[in-house]
Amino acid sequence: MTIPPLTLSPDEMRRAGYAVIDRLVEHYATLNEQSPWGDGEIPAPNPFDAPPPREGVAFETLLARLDKEFFPYNLRVNHPRFYSFIPGPSNFIGVLADTLAAGFNIFGGTWIGGSGTAQMERASIKWVRDAVGFPEDSFGLFTSGGSAANVIALAAARHSRLKGPLENARIYMSSETHSSVERGLRILGFKSHQCRKIKVDENLRIDVLSLTDAICEDRAKGFDPIAVVANAGTTNTGAVDPLHQLADICRRENVWMHIDGAYGAGAVFSKRGRAMLDGVERADSVSFDAHKWLFQPFEIGGVLVRDGETLHSAFNIDASYLRDTKKLFGRGVNFGEHGIQLTRASRALKFWLTFQAFGADEIERAINNGLDMAEAAETMIRSLPHWRVISPASLGALAFRAAPSGWSDEAADRLNSEIAARSRADGKDMIVTTEFKGRVALRICPINPRLTKSDMQGTIERLDLAALAAMSDAENADETR
Ligand SMILES: Cc1ncc(COP(=O)(O)O)c(C=O)c1O
Repeated sequence: MTIPPLTLSPDEMRRAGYAVIDRLVEHYATLNEQSPWGDGEIPAPNPFDAPPPREGVAFETLLARLDKEFFPYNLRVNHPRFYSFIPGPSNFIGVLADTLAAGFNIFGGTWIGGSGTAQMERASIKWVRDAVGFPEDSFGLFTSGGSAANVIALAAARHSRLKGPLENARIYMSSETHSSVERGLRILGFKSHQCRKIKVDENLRIDVLSLTDAICEDRAKGFDPIAVVANAGTTNTGAVDPLHQLADICRRENVWMHIDGAYGAGAVFSKRGRAMLDGVERADSVSFDAHKWLFQPFEIGGVLVRDGETLHSAFNIDASYLRDTKKLFGRGVNFGEHGIQLTRASRALKFWLTFQAFGADEIERAINNGLDMAEAAETMIRSLPHWRVISPASLGALAFRAAPSGWSDEAADRLNSEIAARSRADGKDMIVTTEFKGRVALRICPINPRLTKSDMQGTIERLDLAALAAMSDAENADETR
């Protein structure tokens, strides 16, 4: 019997599948003993840079090769002590759901392609909608991540509010806003001078007086303010812009209010987190990232738009080959008409299954753990003599800096870079530096639900030891000025 191309027998599929699951279970079960850095940077030359083999290689052989050449050289972003950037603290149910979604190759773009996944996405988005506090006629969808969610929201804003020429439009955001917003605007045809970066106050929240001045100034010059982008959790410090004040301004000025909640909006599923995001319900659109603080494997973000019809009219385009997909039998929805992708995976499956398997209370506990850990770290840092808190715990993010008395700012900058380098060499914690007002600081985002207080204690103690050793070396070398 000839076997069709690209086909495995059921036994071969089982063997290969079990080998994959075994690896994943081993990975999860031993994560705490691994370094969050993995084995660091892949050695040169690139081991994959060769033409594909003419004849296939046994899957087991390939897996063994990946064990050596591939898996070790990727950061363990779901490690409890991975504190940097925004971690990716995913969960195993989400992993299995992605496997199922890929295995069934579920098409999430049209009702005809998958009414099962469409209803699951609808129901899941409704959970987010209700947690945010958006009205019933709002609509939204899952996206590949926060960047895509921001582009979709900004496209809806442009569609709704732009009345004159594109080059007259102005969009406002704080100087702390994530780069994906500016990139999204660039993709949509706006030039960088049309994105007005507004200065921030001492808490790194947008300065509302400067914002109103900028809008006023632009109107006087004949420009067309169309949108304000607010932050619900900036990447650097977790700062939440004054959402109610911004909503008032946007209403008065008739401009679209988008909230970039890619980092922070997941916290709406915790009562404590939701209270920190008061005002989020007044926006015209909100983006969120379930692959961050809602514990999903990459890639799943999402966007909600207050007026669901605007989202549809911003993205819907008819095509003859899709005419049969328009038959919705009065209850269907084509998610592919509401965003960038037509062909899209069933992202809802992992989101829905995770909530089902663990329950909303456990998701809430997982979010609260991140809030607790950032607060605990702040208390620990404040108890140490050579350290200063630079940005207090806010929505699960914290920044601090070793700043021994008598040292110059520049010497303290070098010290903090050195502490990060020593911590990296030690390999137990994944921490990198960032900058605040031109000064080097360490930043942690301890949102992994499996992180414990004693993990955090260990991390802070290791940082303090690294600081003391680096301080002693610098003092011996007379480098404190
Ligand atoms: C505030 C904020 N917005 C947008 C993004 C972009 O999201 P993604 O990386 O999922 O595209 C990030 C990523 O860290 C973020 O922190």
